[in-house]
Amino acid sequence: MASLGSRLVDIHTHVYLPRYAALLRSRTTVPRILTATRDGKPDDKLIILDHDTGRPVGPQYWDRDEKLKFMDRHGIDLSVVSSANPWLDFLPASEAEPMAAQLNEDLEQYCADSPSLTPSLNRLYGFGMLPLVPGISTTALLEAIEQISKLSYLKGIIMGTRGVGKGLDDEALDPVWAALERTGLVVFLHPHYSIEGQWGQKDNGHVLPLALGFPFETTIATTRLILAGVFDRFPALRLLLAHSGGVLPQLSSRLASCIEHDPVVASRLKHDARYYLGKLYFDAVAYGPEELGFVSDVVSRAKHYENNTSVPATATFERGLGSGRMLFGTDHPFFPPLKGTDKWPSVVENLRAIDAVYGWSSSDKDGVRGGNALSLFNLV
Ligand code: URA
Ligand code: ZN
Repeated sequence: MASLGSRLVDIHTHVYLPRYAALLRSRTTVPRILTATRDGKPDDKLIILDHDTGRPVGPQYWDRDEKLKFMDRHGIDLSVVSSANPWLDFLPASEAEPMAAQLNEDLEQYCADSPSLTPSLNRLYGFGMLPLVPGISTTALLEAIEQISKLSYLKGIIMGTRGVGKGLDDEALDPVWAALERTGLVVFLHPHYSIEGQWGQKDNGHVLPLALGFPFETTIATTRLILAGVFDRFPALRLLLAHSGGVLPQLSSRLASCIEHDPVVASRLKHDARYYLGKLYFDAVAYGPEELGFVSDVVSRAKHYENNTSVPATATFERGLGSGRMLFGTDHPFFPPLKGTDKWPSVVENLRAIDAVYGWSSSDKDGVRGGNALSLFNLV
């Protein structure tokens, strides 16, 4: 077994727990699992996105042994598993509340019964979920946070971008951010809806909403959090962004400039917008070394903006510093290989990308592969 410092930890890996898969199967409208057979074999389809024609779905989405087999095949020591989109977004509050509580218990059990990595570490940990739907009471949300914080294998929550219907910049969520900050649960912000895209008439499969819409959705949601002052009011909140934060790193200086020139928001925030990127965590699901290196540059640069001073021309950014907030992920069981291969190209590419980042030391890379996750989730 590898030493703790060189563990491979997957923090972006999903499951549809059996109870949730059964719920999707029972539905006649999207999101749903369409049960079918072809040549006598199961040929089920998962339909969750707008204009979705469905994708094959099978035990890799719900069976824990399949998750462990996938981890073994790719040398992944430990995974922090999250329920996949669209969570409970489609349920009325009266159903979302008990379902979230049951799924949190189910996920705790899924992790607790997993093999151990060391006498004090299991191979599976999880992100719980909140019943974040319109009409839910603040009390119900706070009770869900309380429940999750008491479940020993759940280390955070996964959250979409809708909040309780008005997005994440809704002041109604302030008690939720406060409770998440107080309990130290990591918030994994993950897209589902994509954006109103100019996707055109051609059949391009899921490429445009997944490659562009998902990351833009995360970018917009995080920008709205920054603009709403959430990181000023809850500075210890730990927010982990899916898909390396989408295009937020690339657009952060433009964002800062637009804020500075806008009379409505110019004096609203305590810091330059770029400062807040240094408070975030980013998964390393970007598939290329240049993108990873760039995100780490932007994170390293953030500290220069704490006092709203402009960055001196002579400032140097230490890439390695920013890598401390980046964490390996796979997005399993999404993006399975189209052709039968032993290892999944989506995983191999993300590992190669980490290995090839110019300017990251071997200990920076070890951190991104696993050490940063072990620290973030207090597993060491
Ligand atoms: N597609 C999804 O719907 N969710 C993911 O997490 C990845 C791909
Ligand atoms: Zn994902």
